[in-house]
Amino acid sequence: WGTLHNNLKKINTAIFFSGRGSNMESLIKATKNQNFPASIPVVITNNKSAPGIQLAKNHFIPVEILDKNKFNRSEFESNSQKILLDYKIEMICLAGFMQILSKKFVYSWQNRIINIHPSYLPKNKGLYPQKQVIDEKASYTGCSVHFVNEKIDDGKIILQEKVKVMHNDNVQTLSDRILEKEHIIYPRALKKIALEILEIKN
Ligand code: GRF
Repeated sequence: WGTLHNNLKKINTAIFFSGRGSNMESLIKATKNQNFPASIPVVITNNKSAPGIQLAKNHFIPVEILDKNKFNRSEFESNSQKILLDYKIEMICLAGFMQILSKKFVYSWQNRIINIHPSYLPKNKGLYPQKQVIDEKASYTGCSVHFVNEKIDDGKIILQEKVKVMHNDNVQTLSDRILEKEHIIYPRALKKIALEILEIKN
């Protein structure tokens, strides 16, 4: 007759990352709450030098390293598919994953891959969005969590948050303020989508 919590189903979620891993860590921390509807049994990186590797290890999460110098995109993807199957993964979060996924991969995970981008999409897609914002002298930017489709930073938006640009902002100060918001909205977005998947399954 254990507590209700023991029966809570969770969506097995993998994270793909390439670098610092701060968004990955914010997701890992959120999933530690017993009521959070997703868990993270494995993370995958394409960069053997990614600082995020140590972060994941600190949380005792297995890290699969498919280094970009050893595995081309198609090898990365076929090896990832095996890992995802092994861990019974149902959903993928991209968190600073600096490699474009093939159409084939994206279609095989349709509506099951989400990404975070540091701009108020559809504004400022692609690389260095914070610099784009400073150069444009825009008055606000933000961050967005969206579904991944075959185009870059393009799929349906799940959650987004605005961040005001201050007159004395530089790329660094602006990026730091956006990142704080990223760490808040990414776990919220994962929760929302995981709950929706659980709903469909029941
Ligand atoms: C974040 O700004 C994220 O929005 C973008 O890449 C950066 C990754 O940072 N896609 P981190 O590795 O999560 O710290």
